[in-house]
Amino acid sequence: MTRHASRVTRHVPQDDPIVCRCEEVTVSQVEGAIAEGYDSLEELKRHLRVGMGPCQGRTCLPLVAQILARKTGRPLEQVFSAVSVRPPLAPVPVTLFLGGDDEG
Ligand code: FES
Repeated sequence: MTRHASRVTRHVPQDDPIVCRCEEVTVSQVEGAIAEGYDSLEELKRHLRVGMGPCQGRTCLPLVAQILARKTGRPLEQVFSAVSVRPPLAPVPVTLFLGGDDEG
């Protein structure tokens, strides 16, 4: 069985769509967490790990924000503006921190 085939055969709930593919979090899990009192995007990230997968939430955070806005009655702009966004990082040669390449 190839790696791709194992992903295809994984159970996907028909009546509970996955909102975060990276962390396999469903809509009902997000709604349940909101009902428990996790009422900000940051709290949902920490509780459910949405937005913390390899895509860093590019796919799921806008969807989770929409669910949160709908469930709490708050404007989407207010819900989404409260999330901390980290810029993509690029590798830096360690010699940059050691004073250049004349070491060694
Ligand atoms: S889809 Fe949620 S972190 Fe990638």
